[in-house]
Amino acid sequence: MKTCAVYPGSFDPITNGHIDIIDRGLKLFDTIIIAILYNPAKKSFFTINERIDMIEQSLKQFSDKIEIDSFDGLLVNYAAQKKATAVLRGMRAVSDFEYEFQMALMNRKLNKNIQTVFLMTGLKWIFTSSSIIKEAARFGGDIDNMVPDYVNKKIKEKFNKKHTPLNT
Ligand code: PNS
Repeated sequence: MKTCAVYPGSFDPITNGHIDIIDRGLKLFDTIIIAILYNPAKKSFFTINERIDMIEQSLKQFSDKIEIDSFDGLLVNYAAQKKATAVLRGMRAVSDFEYEFQMALMNRKLNKNIQTVFLMTGLKWIFTSSSIIKEAARFGGDIDNMVPDYVNKKIKEKFNKKHTPLNT
């Protein structure tokens, strides 16, 4: 039987840290569904379609092992509907732990058949997050090597458009 995990997140945008987790996850699972949360209550920087495009362009090397999708509602319901047995999450520093722990326990309470699997991010990406990258890029900071080149270009294009607020 093929193993499948859902890797959920905002991916606003995808970073090299996310890609590192997908790379590691594919050593454990046959397929990974990268599932972008559609949350109209949270103002995002990139639209869902822009985020899907950036993921597609950045993960061409894994294209036969990944699916890119968006979801709303409960993650465990989405995972069950996709017949995934695990939720994959990356863990960077201790600061991630409390939120991830709460979410994993809530997800387990909601559906005991879906396990959360945490993978440690590579040391290089310990301080990488979509928010901090957008913040640095907004003020002209160098974000090379933190995101794929295509994503870097898209971030710069967005900030070059006048009056683009940083909402996240
Ligand atoms: O990249 P993020 O923003 O840390 O990802 C958070 C995400 C999408 C994994 C989380 O918010 C989520 O799963 N939301 C869907 C609603 C849900 O099932 N929440 C957990 C149980 S209350």
